[in-house]
Parts: sequence; structure tokens; C-alpha cells
Amino acid sequence: MTGVLLPLPFIVMDTRKQTLKEDLARALQEARERTRWLLESVSDEDLYAQHDEIMSPLIWDYGHIANYEELWLLKEAFGKELSEQALFEIYDATITPRSERPSLEMLDRASADRYLDTIREQVLKELQKADLESGDALLKDGFVYNMVIQHEAQHNETMLQTLQLKKGRGYEPPEQRQLPAGNPPEEEMVFVPGGRFVMGTDDEELALDNEGPAYEVHLPGFYIDTTPVTNGSYLEFVEDGGYEKRELWDPVGWDWIRENGISAPKHWYQKEPHDWWTERFGFDEPLDAGAPVVHVSWYEADAYTRWAGKRLPTEAEWEKAASWDPKTETKRLLYPWGEEQPTPEKANLDQLAFRPAQVGAYPAGASAYGVLGMIGDVWEWTASDFAAYPGFESFPYREYSEVFFGPDYKVLRGGSWATRPCAIRNTFRNWDYPIRRQLFVGFRCAR
Ligand SMILES: [Fe+2]
Repeated sequence: MTGVLLPLPFIVMDTRKQTLKEDLARALQEARERTRWLLESVSDEDLYAQHDEIMSPLIWDYGHIANYEELWLLKEAFGKELSEQALFEIYDATITPRSERPSLEMLDRASADRYLDTIREQVLKELQKADLESGDALLKDGFVYNMVIQHEAQHNETMLQTLQLKKGRGYEPPEQRQLPAGNPPEEEMVFVPGGRFVMGTDDEELALDNEGPAYEVHLPGFYIDTTPVTNGSYLEFVEDGGYEKRELWDPVGWDWIRENGISAPKHWYQKEPHDWWTERFGFDEPLDAGAPVVHVSWYEADAYTRWAGKRLPTEAEWEKAASWDPKTETKRLLYPWGEEQPTPEKANLDQLAFRPAQVGAYPAGASAYGVLGMIGDVWEWTASDFAAYPGFESFPYREYSEVFFGPDYKVLRGGSWATRPCAIRNTFRNWDYPIRRQLFVGFRCAR
């Protein structure tokens, strides 16, 4: 009966291939459901308006999601395209800066709905035929599908930033997840001993080009805050006149806060002197002293650290504290707690809470060194400029990372409550200008 046994390995391989395709199809579907869920309660007026010149109108993001999918999962992967060149130009982020996007002839809501569905239908057909074990780096192990799924998730977060900047009637999501209570740790800082660790990753399935290649880094020992800086701590800096003390500020940051009249994080205001409130998605709430500060620029984070007698961690310090397991001398590639997928007990990710949790709310999400809240809640500014790792090769397109390398951008790590789990990991790098505050971004200090 050897004839029955022999074909088995082929059956197993086929099953594996089929499972990967099913997983990718399911993830594509799930990403789309979330995009539509987020926009469900947004009026047409708010969808078409530009709420801030640093953001696109939401309707651009919506159409762009489908166009990026057409570009990568039909055109680049299989040489097929359904749309005219003009549509590719309208939705090419590198052609029209965000400030000018309202002037584009974008698809309206109904046409965009149809466009998303048409592209998706074709994409799923091609996926069935695709060879995901080919030598083609784009298709191998489904990389390009994961890239497109992450792209949709990233635009979900961008859309939430836009909704947070929106004026007028507040944004009311269809539902909101309850968060666990905060539990601030006893130790304010954790010591990470000096020595080697592996920075970055060689993963070719999920990781984007700037996350690799992996390389060995030797760092001196350092202290890092156990949790992100809270509103309560940041308020002490504000009330201590932190925004008036020139010596605390980077000279460029000092000029920027003076010219723009900035004296507190974005969305903070006082009802009475010293009675601080914040605005979240158009609704007022008292400042929560136990939650991480959010919507601060790199310059504000940097000034705070100086006031506190500390500094921002470098990107390498952040990644070591998040990912290195000193007992086994191995790296946790995906999350501070290990390779298991995030759950609501481990981290505040995936948008549904619509706010950061209070610090210390996720002891189960601690890194090997005992550092808390590194993934989720708020992005964290690092001291580092966005630069290529040694041996970097851009893939699959220069405009994803390479054109942004240099001193203009600072690196952010860890994702926020608005980041979907597929779009964050210990090695994931985000970047923005040091004056930017629309991100769900805070920081922690090092010493
Ligand atoms: Fe995009």
C-alpha cells in the first residue's frame, strides 16, 4: 500500500498552500470590514471635507486603499489593471501632497464603494491562481498580500487621526471596548544591562523593508521608564513653566512653540486656571492623570525629558528593552511578551477602545526586562533619526522608506491603541516630522 502513502507529502504541501491563501483572503476581508466599520458613522460632508491641511480628506484615503490594492495585488503582482492611468495618479501619495488632495477629482462615496468591491473581487480570483512559493519575492509566502493588508490598517489609523482633528460634530464610533484599570508599577525605571542584542529582523513574510536586515548591536547599560510618561507627570512639567524655559528646548523646537503659541499638548485646554481638560474625537473630558500623555511633538517630548533630568531612548534602546530576552539571549520578534498574538489582556491595540489605557494596565504584556506598555496605547518618540540599517535594500518600492531616510524625520515605535495588530511588532518603525502632534503619540524616558 506504499502507493497510498507516497503522495502524502504533496497533499500536506497543497493543504499548507491552501491554508495560507485562505488566511490571506480572510485577513483581506477582515481589513475591509474594519475600514467600512470606522467610516459607517461618518457623514458625507465629513468624508469629503479636509479637516486639517496635514491630512487627506477621508474620501481620498478610502479610494487610495483600493488603488494601492489594485497597484500591488493586480498590476505589480500579475500585470493586470482595471483602472485608467488617471486614477493611479489621483491616488498616488507621492504625486500630490496631502494639502493639495482636496483639489483632486476623487471618486465619490458610492463610486469608491464600487471600486473597492470590484478590485477586491479580482484580487481574490488572482489569489486562487497565485504561486506563493515562487521565487518571486513579492509573492513568496504572501508578502505582498501582507503588505497590502498592513497598508489598509495603516490608513485606518491615519483616518482616526483625521477624525480626531475634525471640527464640528464629534465622531461617535459604532461601539467602544472597555479598558482594564491602570496599575502603576512601583519602580519608575528598569535597568537594561549593557551587551549585545540583535536589532531588526530578516523576516520576509511580514516585515517591511526598513525593519531589516537584522544586525548585532552592542549597547552600554541604560535605564528606561517602566511605562510611558503620564498626563499627570506631563502636567507637572506644564505647570512648572516648562514651555517658558528656553534652556529645556531644542532651539528649533523653541522657535516653533513660540511662533505657534504652543503651551500644552494638542487637544489640552483649561476650563479654569489649572483645571485641565482634553478633547477626544470632539468630546470634552477631564484630563486622566493616569493615562499616557498623547499628541505631543518630538520637541515637547525632548523638552520634558530634559526637565525630568532624563533623555529620550534611542531606537536601539527601545527595541532592546522591548524584544531582547537576556536569559535565552534571543529576540522576541513580534511582541514584548513573545510571539503569541495580542489579546485585550496583553495590549491596548486594534482601535476599539478609542483611547489609551492608564499605565500599568497590562502586566501580561511586559517585556523580558519587565518594561510595560511598549506595544499599543501610544506610539513612542525615540531620540533617533530615521535611517537605514546596514545592508538595507529598498523593497518593493523606494517610496515606502528610502526617500524618507535622513535627519528630517524622527522614529516612533510601538504602535498605539489605533494600530491594528497586523501593523505593529517589536521591529516595526514609524517616522514623522518632530513638530507633528496629530499621531496618537507619547513617549517614555531613558537615562
Ligand atoms: Fe498609502
